[in-house]
Amino acid sequence: MSRERAKLVVGNWKMHGRIDVNAGLLTEVAAGASALQNDVYVGVCVPFPYVGQAQALLSGSVVRWGVQDVSAHAHGAYTGEVAADMATDFGSTYAIVGHSERRAYHFEGPELIAEKARRALDAGLTPIVCVGETLEERDEGLTQEVIATQLDAVLTVLTEEQAARIVIAYEPVWAIGTGQSATAAQAQEVHAFLRGKLAAKGASVANVLILYGGSVKPENAQELFGQQDIDGGLIGGASLKSKDFLAICQAAQTVLQKAA
Ligand code: PGA
Repeated sequence: MSRERAKLVVGNWKMHGRIDVNAGLLTEVAAGASALQNDVYVGVCVPFPYVGQAQALLSGSVVRWGVQDVSAHAHGAYTGEVAADMATDFGSTYAIVGHSERRAYHFEGPELIAEKARRALDAGLTPIVCVGETLEERDEGLTQEVIATQLDAVLTVLTEEQAARIVIAYEPVWAIGTGQSATAAQAQEVHAFLRGKLAAKGASVANVLILYGGSVKPENAQELFGQQDIDGGLIGGASLKSKDFLAICQAAQTVLQKAA
């Protein structure tokens, strides 16, 4: 997938959903996404118990699916953990790793997250590696330092070939679920910085997709996705409403059409 001509929009359902509600949402998203051009890639990352349901309802559609976390271990006595290849058993494409909610509430550190990314790649999943600073860190001028540390931890354990297969999501913690998105300029500044760090890992890594996440809505998606280094979005709250999620996917389409 060349980032010059593609956008990726992935829903992060978080711990939302029930089997009956999901059925409607997945069916609507699959139907709506079928109208998109094939340079807009769409995915949904659902809670583990519903991966099979996503597979059943999305197989044959353009929408891919995945999980919101994977274990850092391959298999074994790790009660409550889910291995990356269990996700692939149900056709998953994506695995979010290092989401700020995992970092904050489950005390996941950089090494653990790097190991999860590696496991995901080993299993054939595309890890969506989340990085982002808190408001306090931003106010102290530490944004670049914080996200560089988060990204470096992952890049260090990957070969160039592996690193070229990841997706990055820049999600400022202060923008997640708050309704207060980063401005397009604020996001672009960080994405450009991330792009530089990726490029330093190798030419093929420079083109890794960098998604923006944090209060993306139909109203702000087009401006965000229109920035040079913003290759799409990781969508929380708005991914739970098919109309909003599809409108965000459509915004990605519009940006590509305008650029053509
Ligand atoms: P939000 O969440 O879109 O609800 O802000 C984004 C995320 O946490 O991935």
